[in-house]
Amino acid sequence: MQSILVTGGLGYIGSITITELYKAIGKQYKIIILDNLSNSNIQVLDTITSIIGEKLDLHIVDIQNYNELNEVFKKYKETNPINYIIHFAALKAVGESVENPIKYYQNNVVGTLNLLNCAEEHKCQNFLFSSSATVYAPGEFVDEEAPFKPSNPYGETKVVIEYLIRSLSKKGGRYLCLRYFNPVGATKDGKLGEMPNKPNNLFPYIEQVAIGNLQQLYVFGNDYNTHDGTGIRDYIHILDLAEAHVVALQELIKKDEKKENYYDYFNIGTGKGFSVLDIVNEYSKLVPIKYQITDKRVGDVAILKNQDGQLRED
Ligand SMILES: NC(=O)c1ccc[n+]([C@@H]2O[C@H](COP(=O)([O-])OP(=O)(O)OC[C@H]3O[C@@H](n4cnc5c(N)ncnc54)[C@H](O)[C@@H]3O)[C@@H](O)[C@H]2O)c1
Repeated sequence: MQSILVTGGLGYIGSITITELYKAIGKQYKIIILDNLSNSNIQVLDTITSIIGEKLDLHIVDIQNYNELNEVFKKYKETNPINYIIHFAALKAVGESVENPIKYYQNNVVGTLNLLNCAEEHKCQNFLFSSSATVYAPGEFVDEEAPFKPSNPYGETKVVIEYLIRSLSKKGGRYLCLRYFNPVGATKDGKLGEMPNKPNNLFPYIEQVAIGNLQQLYVFGNDYNTHDGTGIRDYIHILDLAEAHVVALQELIKKDEKKENYYDYFNIGTGKGFSVLDIVNEYSKLVPIKYQITDKRVGDVAILKNQDGQLRED
């Protein structure tokens, strides 16, 4: 049986995608999780186990460490060779990336370089990459042909990796980049959701205010050129995003079986935009959300929204 390596598999999107992937093809492939726990918690493995009814292999490894990463590939080489990679592992806080670009390039770019290097060494040429809408300039109608114009080092790391993937794909193999807008929400039973070590994105922050763990929400800027002055984003439900990964991986598997070469990139968003205050007001219908307007964050943009709600036809 071949293996699917999921890096960052204990994180928000990774953990939920794993449960959906397991339901779809977990009997045909061995799913291996790799994470360094820098933004996740070991208990997530227990939750995954309780949902799918099987304990998956977990390797607590940092992708910046080439040797440890290589050991993981070697371990399964004879029995369950790693033939597919879903690469979620990354640091993702825009503000922190502005303060510490080296940390972000080191973790995201060097880590991915190591991973692709190991993959090449072990003849694994099927790669699904978590890119981001931050690769684009801000805008209301961003489609896949919009040029790369990231506004912060986090987005830059995604661009560099996408260039690397594009170059590698010219040598053959199957490579797909999914550029997500803003994933939100949790599984229907509430067992898995966004539980960062430190909340950074809007929804986990609001939720901490709603349950009284944090006193108030800081809204970064109210003089953007939007209907209420606060930033507008395109929010996609996490289960839809997880499903996109399952479908994408199944496509890579089909193409791999036919030995077809492939390279592509897709936006994953809804095409609808909501401002920070739209979200605060909606939450406040259920529980009052105290907030304070504060300075804009460096690296943030006014509007980032997918062209429309459709995945590109192909
Ligand atoms: N959540 C979003 O808003 C969003 C939007 C667009 C793209 N993305 C991308 O999707 C991917 C997953 O995001 P998420 O929201 O699940 O984030 P997350 O922080 O919840 O998950 C990332 C996981 O990767 C792990 N990790 C980080 N660096 C690592 C390293 N060097 N070695 C091994 N493991 C490492 C973390 O511990 C964490 O478990 C990331 O690549 C992110 O850039 C996220």
